Amino acid sequence: MPRRRKPLLLLGVSVLALAWPASCADPVLFPVAKDAATSLYTIPVRDGANHVIDLAGPLLWSTCASDHLPAKFSCGDPVCKLANAYRPPGCREAGQPCKQQCKAYPYNPITGQCAAASLIHTRLVANTTDGKNPLRQVSVRAVAACAPRKLLASLPRDAAGVAGLAASGLALPAQVAASQRVASKFMLCLPRRDEGVAIFGGGPLFLLPESAIGDFTYTTLLSKRGSSSYYLPVKAIAVGKARVPLPRDALATGGVVLGTTAPYTALRADVYRPLVDAFGKALTREWNNTRRVAAVAPFELCYDSKTLPGPTRIGWLVPDIDLVLEGG
Ligand SMILES: *[C@@H]1O[C@H](CO)[C@@H](O)[C@H](O)[C@H]1NC(C)=O
Ligand SMILES: *[C@@H]1O[C@H](CO)[C@@H](O)[C@H](O)[C@H]1NC(C)=O
Repeated sequence: MPRRRKPLLLLGVSVLALAWPASCADPVLFPVAKDAATSLYTIPVRDGANHVIDLAGPLLWSTCASDHLPAKFSCGDPVCKLANAYRPPGCREAGQPCKQQCKAYPYNPITGQCAAASLIHTRLVANTTDGKNPLRQVSVRAVAACAPRKLLASLPRDAAGVAGLAASGLALPAQVAASQRVASKFMLCLPRRDEGVAIFGGGPLFLLPESAIGDFTYTTLLSKRGSSSYYLPVKAIAVGKARVPLPRDALATGGVVLGTTAPYTALRADVYRPLVDAFGKALTREWNNTRRVAAVAPFELCYDSKTLPGPTRIGWLVPDIDLVLEGG
């Protein structure tokens, strides 16, 4: 692993709501599924074809039919500026001066590949919702990038592209907000298998017949110059309610990034080691007959489940790992 200061965490979140000022039209719902083979989340936008959800992605991109007609966006067009507001990491082609027709640079968040692509006008079919039931079908105008097929490497077999959910002009939230005149906010409820939803334009969302999601705990999301990712203000990490001693500034602003494309939380080595040590100690302090077993990659600290407390409906009764956020 390079020793460069990398963002610390990639968090798989289960429910995430991002808010801007409110408006009036009905929110727009897309179903969300999880691909069993890759653990990636998908959303059926553009002719019902699945697109991988990338919380940090600034574009909507798909492969296009060979006879598609690219939209003619000039270099000075505001849409062209939005398409190039973020340069994908490691994308050498991006950043070349725009000559005649605008190019976008779609990015595969799994392989890190990118490619130059033209932009097209498209329509996304979805239902509006009152939080319980679909209300009516709508056709959402959007601008998408047309990527070459090779950019689909390592994505689920049925995926035709990537749907970016970043806070940028050509990501899905802003495009749905502009087309449907709904609020610029979205709710993402990630499924274990296939009952998830993405709702653009606000809530409510009723997960159970009688209960609206309302009792959220909120925290501020942060952004970082030149990056389209959402960052979390994590102040400390606790194991079994005790703070894990970490190097100074290990969690400094912009150190913790939210993501939907890694199946586990990933930690930088200087945070991983103290956390794993604290967890092992806290577990044996509470349950002194747990038995360690050989590591199972990619994990290192593994236990014989027969010696662990639980499981219960909500999981194993092992020490909690809490991310302590700004504001408590
Ligand atoms: C809209 O809702 C109807 C009724 O539940 C459903 O059959 C249809 O597939 C939905 N359309 C989309 C695009 O999700
Ligand atoms: C393990 O815990 C039990 C009760 O929780 C205690 O009676 C026993 O002495 C402990 N054993 C060791 C080796 O600490």
